[in-house]
Amino acid sequence: MRPKPPSGTLLAQLDDLPDPGARASDWEGGAVLLVRQGDRVTGWSNLCPHAGLPLALPDGRGLLHKGETLVCPVHGASFELEGGTCTGGPAAGDRLTPIPLVLDNGEVRAA
Ligand code: FES
Repeated sequence: MRPKPPSGTLLAQLDDLPDPGARASDWEGGAVLLVRQGDRVTGWSNLCPHAGLPLALPDGRGLLHKGETLVCPVHGASFELEGGTCTGGPAAGDRLTPIPLVLDNGEVRAA
């Protein structure tokens, strides 16, 4: 179980996120995985529901297939980014834990 950031916690600068792409937050050793698709950023607990391992690689990068599907690097489960539902691989029936965000003046913060 990863901690959830308190409301207002700064998680990243928007310009520091790959677009499209995914990166773990600096907060709490990468507890939140941030996914950027243009001006849209979604946040997810950085734990795969399959085996409870990090969704981000050790260097903090997340794997975003074709800019729209998050892929777990451990066993390859894939997740859509509207509700975090698993769409393929060994986490079928599971979903990611969303972390609500707000974007404000180029900053990505917990809602
Ligand atoms: S830990 Fe993510 S697919 Fe197994």
